[in-house]
Amino acid sequence: MKNIKAILFDAYGTLFDVNSAAEKCKDKIGNRWEGFANYWRTTQLEYTWLRSLMNRHRDFWKITEDSLDKSMKAFNIDNSMRNELLDLYKVLSPFEEVSEVLLTLKEKKYKLAILSNGTPSLLKELVKSNNLENIFDDLFSIEQVGTYKPSPKVYDMPISKYKIKKEEVVFLSANTWDVSGGGNYGYNSIWVNRNNSIFDNLDYKPKNEIKNLNQLLDII
Ligand code: LAC
Repeated sequence: MKNIKAILFDAYGTLFDVNSAAEKCKDKIGNRWEGFANYWRTTQLEYTWLRSLMNRHRDFWKITEDSLDKSMKAFNIDNSMRNELLDLYKVLSPFEEVSEVLLTLKEKKYKLAILSNGTPSLLKELVKSNNLENIFDDLFSIEQVGTYKPSPKVYDMPISKYKIKKEEVVFLSANTWDVSGGGNYGYNSIWVNRNNSIFDNLDYKPKNEIKNLNQLLDII
């Protein structure tokens, strides 16, 4: 890939493992923990899209709480676990290769940023709790534009700030619809297909698909 100036990362699911909160409670939740984590994540994303369509914005933390409440009911999980799960969601673990790859990219002098649905304070805490605070030039939050991905307004934030062309950006996401959102906007979107999944039919097919961020170093 030539003339790349900025590398942007989705946060949840791409750098940080959204299932890690429920996984850390698997002794209490039992072997349903993974189904529960997936239900919570799916509901959370649905709420971002539905609230955007309804024009009733609430920030990602409120949506995370609301989707957790529905998921705990659906899985009959005792309410005493609510605070523990929410606290763990604030300090999600990164995938294992993340720190090293980010450090390597930093040495290569790319602009590095997160572009995420998360609130500014959530993103700051996530990055800090994982010792990544000196890596990123920016933590772009959708709160700046008041609507969720995949609105083009979201993908436009780094372009406006850095005054670079869309094709000078590489955007990485593990969320297929987010890859399509960034790709339809004009980014070089790369799919981080961590779980051997199937891609969407949303007018964009990424030229590059990788299994984890290590493989980014071979194509950038
Ligand atoms: C984010 C969600 C989409 O970080 O993963 O924006």
